[in-house]
Amino acid sequence: MKFIVYKTIVEASKKAAEIILKTIKVKHGQCNLGLATGSSPVLTYQYLVDDYRKNSTSWADVRTFNLDEYAGLDSSNHASYHYFMNQHLFSKLDINLQHTYFPSADDNYDEKIAKIGGIDLQLLGVGVNGHIGFNEPGSSFNSLTRVVDLTPSTIAVNAAKFFNNQIDRVPKRAYSMGIKSIMAAKKIVLLAFGKTKTAAIQKLKFCQSYNSDFPVSALSLHSDVTVILDQEANGNGNDL
Ligand code: GLP
Repeated sequence: MKFIVYKTIVEASKKAAEIILKTIKVKHGQCNLGLATGSSPVLTYQYLVDDYRKNSTSWADVRTFNLDEYAGLDSSNHASYHYFMNQHLFSKLDINLQHTYFPSADDNYDEKIAKIGGIDLQLLGVGVNGHIGFNEPGSSFNSLTRVVDLTPSTIAVNAAKFFNNQIDRVPKRAYSMGIKSIMAAKKIVLLAFGKTKTAAIQKLKFCQSYNSDFPVSALSLHSDVTVILDQEANGNGNDL
């Protein structure tokens, strides 16, 4: 795992957007991106939109596969990840909405991804308890896309961030790519910002094997992972 630390989220997000754009260019626009929601990728998406406006990088042949989605929220619900992606990225690019996929109850997501050649780059955030996607502690290393129960701590964190603190509005279940689905990506970029992530990042730095109590530890076994941090998430270490 390569760790890169920036002073601010702005610089860190610019770097993440650069890596994504490079992947699109190398594949001549025909690439498959695994995308994340949450607060961590918001600025990265803004830089991708800026690039589209300035440089007209085409997303017409890009396919996107979102990591997760709440069960029971449809795409018109403002808290759904469909809505988030449309608002922050898809509606601002020339992407074909038919090529934007989300896990759901009614298809074999992993097979669909494999059939189109796998994910070239997977963008990830991390939960304070070390979850990736909605793979909560206890997730198997061999897990594929499935319906999962959210932990009380994740429900509480997401209620505060995205549901106006109304904990009863947060769905208790979600569809999520599994650890095995994520590990199948050719390249992984993990974003972590702010001091709520410091403990998880410190722990990740010492991981050498998979510990199901700390799902992000799986990344220590992947050959191409870049972890992009701001100083706070790094525990105020040296910036590069
Ligand atoms: C959420 C999402 C994840 C996200 C993570 C971190 O629960 N299911 O996909 O990466 O937690 O979120 P944030 O970036 O808001 O800190």
